[in-house]
Amino acid sequence: MGLDLLLGLQWGDEGKGKIVDVLTKNYDIIARFQGGPNAGHTLKFDGIKHVLHTIPSGIFHPSALNLVGNGVVIDPVIFRKELENLDKFQIDYHKSLLISRKAHLILPTHRLLDAASEKSKGSKKIGSTLKGIGPTYMDKTGRNGIRIGDLEFPNWKEKYRELANKHEELIAFYKVDLTYDLQKLESDFFAAIDFISNKLSFVDNESVLANAQADHKKILAEGAQGSLLDIDFGTYPFVTSSNTTAAGACTGLGVAPNKIEDVFGIFKAYTTRVGSGPFPTELFDETGEQIAKVGNEFGATTGRPRRCGWLDLVALKYTVQVNGVTQLMMMKGDVLSGIDKLKICTSYNYRGETIYHLPFSLNEENLTPKYIEMNGWEEDITQCTSFDELPSQLKEYVAFIEDFLETPIRLVSVGPDRKQTIFR
Ligand code: GDP
Ligand code: IMO
Ligand code: MG
Repeated sequence: MGLDLLLGLQWGDEGKGKIVDVLTKNYDIIARFQGGPNAGHTLKFDGIKHVLHTIPSGIFHPSALNLVGNGVVIDPVIFRKELENLDKFQIDYHKSLLISRKAHLILPTHRLLDAASEKSKGSKKIGSTLKGIGPTYMDKTGRNGIRIGDLEFPNWKEKYRELANKHEELIAFYKVDLTYDLQKLESDFFAAIDFISNKLSFVDNESVLANAQADHKKILAEGAQGSLLDIDFGTYPFVTSSNTTAAGACTGLGVAPNKIEDVFGIFKAYTTRVGSGPFPTELFDETGEQIAKVGNEFGATTGRPRRCGWLDLVALKYTVQVNGVTQLMMMKGDVLSGIDKLKICTSYNYRGETIYHLPFSLNEENLTPKYIEMNGWEEDITQCTSFDELPSQLKEYVAFIEDFLETPIRLVSVGPDRKQTIFR
């Protein structure tokens, strides 16, 4: 049995958490393959909203096994808080949540390094979530990191001390004003490690998944961030530090590329971005403000306002291609209700020429988006339960996107709740 992937096609926050939760009933295992607590995945059902950062979004289904893969970076302090938030929902996470031994640990000093690096960049900062993601992946590729499996050996604290001392020297090197109490941070860190070590099972995830596949189990890999934040294919350097695209699922879980079946590409009916970096279709007018307000566009992890803009089909065509998307899922169409004319970017003017692909640099001095205009719809669609009920203009919007991207839209989401999901 193969494995399906679900990943974001824009700059994150497309609604991955909601849809993984909706789809979990069709799967035996939900596996996160990259990123860490920079992610904020929102689920809503029975009138309650849940935000998950590291824990896979299948956790509320008792029948599913949830796996945190080797490609994920884990902050034990945040992980512990997430687990404690689950306490009131009687989830037996000892049974239903596994962590890869090969996943890397985010140390308190990684978070401090992230802050120091951002401070030193001034106005050129990445807009990181300050969760220590970049420094942790740097130590991973630099072959200095500490992994979950190291915790099973007695000498890991020596390794920790050595690395934390080195980090303190690096922090000083940045020469920025950063006050911190490392002792306090470390006491929370060690307590959280004890907590996790006692409560959860550490596994060799590649074997778990190979055995599951041999037993014909169905696996869904849950992406974090979005393709335009990919370290290789995103808007570098304004990206995260992992491969958020389909290939990241192979390296982040230990599954072979030929085992991947469906790739579900999820996108908002418009575009958002949080943090710095180029955003060609960004709106700075009342329409942008309306989308932000109606869509409640505030970061699930940092609470920062998200920048909003029109749908960018040039960028989407690129991410559909890079990921090999087989089915599309369109989120938040309800947010566009009441906007008279909707714009969709279908090409760019790049250094005086019309182009239809994503160029090396999306900086505004080189590039302006070119739009087509479509009629909007007035109706509130949040109570619609079938595609037929949706306004004709929204159906035309969907048909135009499908045609442009040459990929079917199989799901339309009309609100944050599990139930506000229309399959076609
Ligand atoms: P993720 O990071 O991809 O899981 O997405 P986030 O949870 O960060 O952001 C998506 C936000 O949109 C959350 O607040 C969701 O509750 C909300 N949401 C998801 N789907 C819809 C939808 O179809 N309509 C509306 N209005 N909100 C949605
Ligand atoms: P989910 O999984 C949206 C952005 C940050 C910043 C850049 C680098 O919820 O979609 P990092 O902390 O990784 O060093 O930040 O990436 N970013 C996200 N934006 N959704 C996310 O995750 C993000 N994770 C990181 O805002 O611009
Ligand atoms: Mg999010």
